[in-house]
Amino acid sequence: MPKKKSDKRTKLTTNAGAPVVDNQNTMTAGPRGPALLQDVWLLEKLATFDREVIPERRMHAKGSGAYGTFTVTHDISRYTRAKIFSEVGKKTEVFVRFSTVAGERGAADAERDIRGFAMKYYTEEGNWDLVGNNTPVFFLKDPLKFPDLNHAVKRDPRTNLRSAKNNWDFWTLLPEALHQVTITMSERGIPLSYRHMNGYGSHTFSLINAAGERCWVKFHFKTEQGIKCLTDAEAEALVGRDRESHQRDLYESIERGDFPRWKMQIQIMTDEQAAACPFNPFDLTKVWPHGDYPMMDVGVLELNRNPDNYFAEVEQAAFNPANVVPGIGFSPDKMLQGRLFAYGDAQRYRLGVNHHLIPVNASRCPFHSYHRDGAMRVDGNYGSTPGYEPNSYGEWQEQPDFAEPPLELSGAAAHWSHRDDAGDDYSQAGDLFRMMNDAQREALFGNTARAMGDAPREIKIRHIGNCLRADPDYGRGVAGAMGIPLDEIEKQR
Ligand code: HEM
Repeated sequence: MPKKKSDKRTKLTTNAGAPVVDNQNTMTAGPRGPALLQDVWLLEKLATFDREVIPERRMHAKGSGAYGTFTVTHDISRYTRAKIFSEVGKKTEVFVRFSTVAGERGAADAERDIRGFAMKYYTEEGNWDLVGNNTPVFFLKDPLKFPDLNHAVKRDPRTNLRSAKNNWDFWTLLPEALHQVTITMSERGIPLSYRHMNGYGSHTFSLINAAGERCWVKFHFKTEQGIKCLTDAEAEALVGRDRESHQRDLYESIERGDFPRWKMQIQIMTDEQAAACPFNPFDLTKVWPHGDYPMMDVGVLELNRNPDNYFAEVEQAAFNPANVVPGIGFSPDKMLQGRLFAYGDAQRYRLGVNHHLIPVNASRCPFHSYHRDGAMRVDGNYGSTPGYEPNSYGEWQEQPDFAEPPLELSGAAAHWSHRDDAGDDYSQAGDLFRMMNDAQREALFGNTARAMGDAPREIKIRHIGNCLRADPDYGRGVAGAMGIPLDEIEKQR
C-alpha cells in the first residue's frame, strides 16, 4: 500500500538534498545542442543507474522472501538452552527466503530443481540462520565437490546452454547423489509453490542444554498447506503463462491474509546412538529413519508480512550457517563445515564486509565486536569506544559461560575416502523407491527420461546401472522409459 506522502516526500532532490529543477529535460547548449557536463543531476542519475546491479548469488539466485513469526508449541528445553525455545508460547521474529538453485536471477520459478528454504531467526541472543532446502538430503557429502556440482548444473562454457550431458555425467559419476537425484526426479521435483513444500535443515546439528549436555538433531518443517506439485507438462504450461509463479503465490497469499505455516519438528540422536548407528549420522546424503528417531513437535513458523522493498530486504539478505546461538551448534558433517566458510565469504564479496549492518541482516539484540571500518560502515562505527581488547575500560569482554562442552574427536589427518564410510550410497535411494506406489514410480521413470534428454547413451546406461543397484525395479523402469534394453546395460556394467 503506498505510504502517505508528506510535503517533504513530494519534493525531488539530489542525493545531497538540493532541489532538482528539471527531471524531464537535460541541460543542453541550445534546444538541439549537445548535453552540458554541468547538468550534475543527469550525471548523478546515470551514474547511480549504472551501479544498480550487484552480483547475484552464485546459486539460489532467484528467490522470494517474507517476514513472519516462530511460536514455540512444545517444550524442548531439556535438549537446548537456546532462548528461542525457552518457553511454550514464546514468539520470535523470522525472515525467510525461498529460492530455486540452478537458475539465474531472472529464471522461471516452476523448474525441476531443489528449492532453498533459508530462515533467519532474530533471537535475543543473536541471529540463528538455518539455511536449508526442501529436501532432507543433498547430492554430495564432501564440500570439495560443491563447485563442480554447480559448474555441472549451470550453463555449458561453450554453448551457454544448460546441459543434460554435463549435469548427468557428473551426477552419475557420484553414486552418493542418487538419493537426492531420486527425490528431484520424483513427483515432488517441481513444487506448485513455495507454500506447498516442506523444509529441512538437512545437516545434523547439535543441541546443548543448560547442564552442558550435547545431543544431535535434525530440523524439519512440515507444510500446513499440504504438499502440492506440478507434472512436467503442467510446469511447462505454467512457465509459458507466468515465469514468476512462486513469487506471485507467496506475495499474494500474504497480502490477502492467507498466511502460510509450517510445523517445526526435530529428530534427536544421543552420542551413544550416533556411535551405534549403522551409517554415518553426519552424512548429508542420508536421512535418519523416522521409526528409529521419531519426530517431535517444537513450534510453528508463520509468514505474515511482505517486505516493503525487494532489493533492500530480499536481494540483500545474507543467510549464513555459521550464525548459530548458544544452545545450537554444528556437527562433524564436513559439508556443514565447508559451508561455515563459504557463505560469509560470498557475502563479503556480494554485499561487502559490513553486510551484517544491512537492516534485514542486523541482529535485533545489541551486538558489539572490535571489527571496525570497511566499505559502507554506516552505523557510527562504535564512535570513540576502544577498538582493541584487552582494555582498561571494561569494554566488551568474552563470555566463557557460553562455551560448548568439549567434543571428543580422534583420528589421523588424511584425505579419508568417504566411499569407505559406513552405509552404502544405494540403500536409502532404494528405500525411497520402494515406498512409492505405481503411479509415483511411473512419474519417476518418465521425469528421469525427459530430464536426461539428449545426454549421451553411455551416461544414461551409467544412471540405469546406479538405479539397478538401488532396486532392480527402479533400474528396469528407467531403462524402459528410455527405451534401452537391459542386456545392453549388463554388457556395459
Ligand atoms: C546459497 C555455498 C551446500 C542451501 C549459497 C551461496 C553459497 C553457497 C556461496 C550464496 C550465498 C550468498 O551469496 O548469500 C554452498 C557450499 C555448499 C552448499 C560451498 C556445500 C559445501 C548447501 C546445502 C544447502 C544449501 C547442503 C541446504 C541444505 C543454500 C541456500 C542458499 C544457498 C538455501 C540461498 C540462501 C539465500 O536465500 O540467500 N550456498 N552451499 N547449500 N545455499 Fe548453499
